[in-house]
Formats: sequence, C-alpha cells, structure tokens
Amino acid sequence: MNSALMNTYNRFPLTLVKGEGSYVWDDAGNKYLDFTSGIATCNLGHVNLYVKEKVEQQLNTLWHCSNLYHIPPQEKLASQLVNNSCFDQVFFGNSGAEANEGAIKLARKYTKTVKNSSAYEIVTFKQSFHGRTLATLTATGQSKVQIGFEPLPEGFRYLPYNDFDSLKDLFKEQTCAVMLELIQAEGGVVVADKEWVKEVVRICKKNDVLLIIDEVQTGMGRTGTLFAYQQFEIEPDIITLAKGLGSGFPIGAVLAKKEVAKAFTPGSHGSTFGGNPLATTAGLATIEYITEKNICQNVSELGNYFKDKLHELLPLNPILKEVRGKGLLLGIALEGEAIDVVNAARQKGVLILVAGANVVRILPPLTTNKDEIDHCLSVLKEIVTSSEYMVSC
Ligand SMILES: Cc1ncc(COP(=O)(O)O)c(C=O)c1O
Repeated sequence: MNSALMNTYNRFPLTLVKGEGSYVWDDAGNKYLDFTSGIATCNLGHVNLYVKEKVEQQLNTLWHCSNLYHIPPQEKLASQLVNNSCFDQVFFGNSGAEANEGAIKLARKYTKTVKNSSAYEIVTFKQSFHGRTLATLTATGQSKVQIGFEPLPEGFRYLPYNDFDSLKDLFKEQTCAVMLELIQAEGGVVVADKEWVKEVVRICKKNDVLLIIDEVQTGMGRTGTLFAYQQFEIEPDIITLAKGLGSGFPIGAVLAKKEVAKAFTPGSHGSTFGGNPLATTAGLATIEYITEKNICQNVSELGNYFKDKLHELLPLNPILKEVRGKGLLLGIALEGEAIDVVNAARQKGVLILVAGANVVRILPPLTTNKDEIDHCLSVLKEIVTSSEYMVSC
C-alpha cells in the first residue's frame, strides 16, 4: 500500500476502528477478542467508562498548561503512585523510552552531584528492551535495535540475564547503576529468577550502585501486584512506568527514592507535555480503578488459571515447549514461528502477539474474565491441534 507514513512497522492486515472492554472491531465490522491490550497498555479494557468520565470532565476544563504552573491531577497521581510504592517522588514524561531516558539521566546526575563520583556506566542485560531513543536503544541488550544508529552513546555494558556466574563482573569502578526488567517481555517473556535478582540487589547495595527496574510493561497491575518488584522482596532506587499507566493515554513516569530524586533540580530535566492535565487525569483514574476494584487480585487469580490451562496444551503438540510469565503477561515458547500461531488466531477472531521469533505473547486486559480466557484457550487448542499448524511449523 502506498502510504505517507514512514515504514517503521510491520503491520498486520487489520484496521481497528472501535474498542469496548476486551473487544475491538475492524473497519469491516468484524469483532475480535483483544488479548494484546495495545501491548499491555489498555489494561482496563478499551474505553473504560470510569477513566472516560474523568477524562471527559478534564477535557471540558483544561487540556494543557505548562509545567511552569501547578497541575492538580499531576500532583494527585504522583501522590497515589508514591502512597502505593516504596518511592518518594515522581517525574512525568510521555512514554516508556522517555521514562527510561529520565531514569538514566537521574542515575548519572545523582552519582555526579550527590555522591560526587565520576562513575557513569549503566549495566543492562542481554535480550532486554528499554526503548528507541539513542540512550535507551543503547541500554537495550539487542543489537537488532542498534544497527545503523552508531555511534551509540558511551557508558553501557551488558551481562547475560538470570546468570549467576557473570554477576562477578557486575560491578566495575565506573558503574553507577544497574537497569533491568523483572520479566523480559519483548525479549521472550523471560521471568527473572528471584534469587538472582536478590544477588543483583546485594551487589548493588555493597558497592553503592543504583538499581533501576524498568516496569514499563510489568507495572500497573500486569503481573498481579501494582508493580512487579513487590513480588521480588526488593526495594529498587528507581522504577519506570508507561504503557498501562494511562489506560491508552500517552504518559510515562520515573519514580525514585527521595535521596536519589533530589539530584533533579529546576532545569535538570523537563518535558512540554509530560504530566499534562489530560494524561495525568487518565493516570489518576487508572490507579484509582485498579486499587478500588481490586484488579491485582483478579490478575493473580486469572493469571494462575490461564497459566495452568496453557500448560495443559503442551502435550497436545511437541512443538510447544514451555509456558512462561506472571499474572497476565504470559508466553508460550515453541519450536516453530510464533507468528504462524498469531496469524491463525487472528483469523479465528483472537488477537495475540509474538515476543521474538519463537514465543507467543498473551496480554489480556486486566479486567478480563474466565469466559474470555476459555475462549482464547479453545482457539489456541484448535490451532495447535490442527493439521495445517503441524505442517506449517
Ligand atoms: C520494558 C519496556 N521498556 C521500555 C519500552 C519502551 O516504551 P515506549 O514504546 O512507550 O517508548 C517498552 C516498550 O515495549 C518496554 O516493554
């Protein structure tokens, strides 16, 4: 198709024009069960009525004003995030990459101005994904997102994920922070080993190195707690959020402990749109809905149910290797091309995703129910037991 858009996405042959709850409709009126949630973004389902009403009120009041003025929903959202976490202060941006960029800047500024140290290096992990800006694609431990953009910014080093042995190389004199995802979502739905994470924390503490957890995909209830770090018995110095924070409105956030956050002073960081009244109203309504409706409990219960049922699919086809994930961030590792399963599911009215070449990724809205999960399971079962699928993989 001739398009005025730059060719940056391999798009599915589907045009979505409407959404409601767990469902979306295409331009021909076909209905799909959306178990992608806009890649873990529309976590409360499409057009969530509580969020919609709050945003509508704000739309009738004030759309935008500069961060040179006080913005009440921004203050309230920051308080809610702080009251529900181990952090003290928040900076708002517009996306996950921007949140990670902000976290990297904060780590370096803190190290230079508060610790008075010249350390600058951020250690990240192979197969990670942290965004597409120059610093965050460099932080990303996958060369496929870096090729062609050289020279890359200095000061990043990569270690293998979940690998105890290589932790002996974690700290070097120039290391100022470690940044990691507790589930490498884009990297194949790989869950961090809790003991390995604790060892990373121990080394960071011993050497006075900051720990940044990228919760852009795992945050806002996706894994069964408001933030994934809460299941790992750790207290990071910084976390980053985006995706589910605004229920579909673009917003990102850096949350930090007071001692670290104080390194940002007027002029050190900023954004025209970051924390604007509309996005932060959406964020505030989102966190209110998650906490008041006990959404995290729904996620843990349904996540366990879904995972158990996915395990029951494994013996049906030897190509299916492993079920991975936590809460409603789930993956099925296979020997064949995951995209074949995704395409077959779409043709049967269910939208799911890949994570790398060989992992099917499933990201239902956190408001989903057993009936919808059972429907997705029956479609997956039909696909993995069909003769075409056996042949194509
Ligand atoms: C863990 C993680 N970090 C960062 C990002 C980048 O977020 P954004 O696309 O909003 O810039 C993503 C996006 O998929 C992500 O999954």
